[in-house]
Amino acid sequence: MTALLEVRNLRKRFGGIRALDDVSLEVRANEAVGLIGPNGAGKTTLFDCISGVQRADRGRVDLAGERIDDLGVYRRARLGIGRTFQRLELFSAMTAREHMLVAERERRGDGSLLKDLLWKGAPRRDEIARVDELLDELGLEELADAPIESLSLGQGRLVELGRALMRGPRLLLLDEPSSGLDSLESARLAALLRDICERRQIATLVVEHDLELVHSLAQRVYVMDFGSIIGAGTLEDVLGESSVRRAYLGDEV
Ligand SMILES: Nc1ncnc2c1ncn2[C@@H]1O[C@H](COP(=O)(O)OP(=O)(O)O)[C@@H](O)[C@H]1O
Ligand SMILES: [Mg+2]
Repeated sequence: MTALLEVRNLRKRFGGIRALDDVSLEVRANEAVGLIGPNGAGKTTLFDCISGVQRADRGRVDLAGERIDDLGVYRRARLGIGRTFQRLELFSAMTAREHMLVAERERRGDGSLLKDLLWKGAPRRDEIARVDELLDELGLEELADAPIESLSLGQGRLVELGRALMRGPRLLLLDEPSSGLDSLESARLAALLRDICERRQIATLVVEHDLELVHSLAQRVYVMDFGSIIGAGTLEDVLGESSVRRAYLGDEV
């Protein structure tokens, strides 16, 4: 069976920095995979090259057997790549419901962008129903009409997740979903993610520093350091490898 996501020999330089140095990995359908490694390892750059925010200098990216690395962000999203960001990228004056309605419009591709930006196209009943169902699933129904700026960071992360889910992704790239959350919020988020992705049959690639969250979400992990994959396997296995311990803990190990 072909992998859902297949990344082969990706390279990306920023000036003298090798942000990605021959990175290869794969994610199969419905699989949850972790991506861990110290700051600056290249994890976000890898997500950028998979989602189309950045073009790699070399290598290729395939989604379900189709080459996508020469497509733009929007096309890749329509093919099923969803994403959340390390720092929230939401509009502070808009509500959760509005974010999700816009995403629903984009998925259908039948509203003109300008119309949506001006809020001229009134949402249809079936669009509202789909949004309400997901707001419910995320536990956001009470907060659906409050502006993002009045929500907590944890709630904002759920809105970002909701927006990504509205587009019906086959693969979700989650960049540090628990950053800024306390341990209780992180545990709740992990349970919610597991549930939703299982029910909707979405594969995930999750970058996360909280190894407990990685452990509870991901069946296996890749470890990156200085732009390269330095380990792959179960979390227990990779944390037992001396090269991985060195990358995390320094030379004492
Ligand atoms: N747009 C950019 N311009 C220049 N350097 C960048 C850019 N994005 C990332 N980098 C550099 O690439 C390396 C990898 O960064 P990043 O992918 O953000 O790592 P991570 O997400 O693992 O912390 C770092 O050295 C970072 O400074
Ligand atoms: Mg990052």
